[in-house]
Amino acid sequence: MSLLAKIAVATSVSIALSISLQASDLVKKGEKIFNTKKIGNCLACHAVNGKDIDNPGDLGPKLSGLKNYPDKYLYDKVYNPYTTNPTSAMPPFGLNGILMPDEIKAVVAYLKTIQ
Ligand code: HEC
Repeated sequence: MSLLAKIAVATSVSIALSISLQASDLVKKGEKIFNTKKIGNCLACHAVNGKDIDNPGDLGPKLSGLKNYPDKYLYDKVYNPYTTNPTSAMPPFGLNGILMPDEIKAVVAYLKTIQ
């Protein structure tokens, strides 16, 4: 392999690594928001399939299979659940300004890891 080809391979490997690192940072941020009372407090209403959650509430459904849901559905659900369910008991986290759009994106990245 020529030196140039080696550099090209090394560069694309490191780009791929940093992208997956960023993605997992986003998931971690979303998980923290999900589980922290003063931020998202999603655990007050939702248990999550396959994740160890400390004493979840059950006003909302146990979340499962979300990895197959479209990102937009999940974003809209967290932003304003009334768009898909006008009588939802879930607070509109985006509409109410509880979570900023980049925080909702992180939450969606976490939701997409739910089996
Ligand atoms: C006060 C209770 C409550 C809180 C807090 C809450 N939810 Fe919900 N959630 C619900 C209820 C009730 C439903 C079912 C009705 C509906 O779909 O709107 C629901 C539905 C959902 C759904 C759709 C599930 C499906 O299978 O379609 C997702 C995703 C979700 N919640 C994510 C979240 C996230 C993320 C948070 C935190 C940012 C959160 N919820 C906080 C009550 C809550």
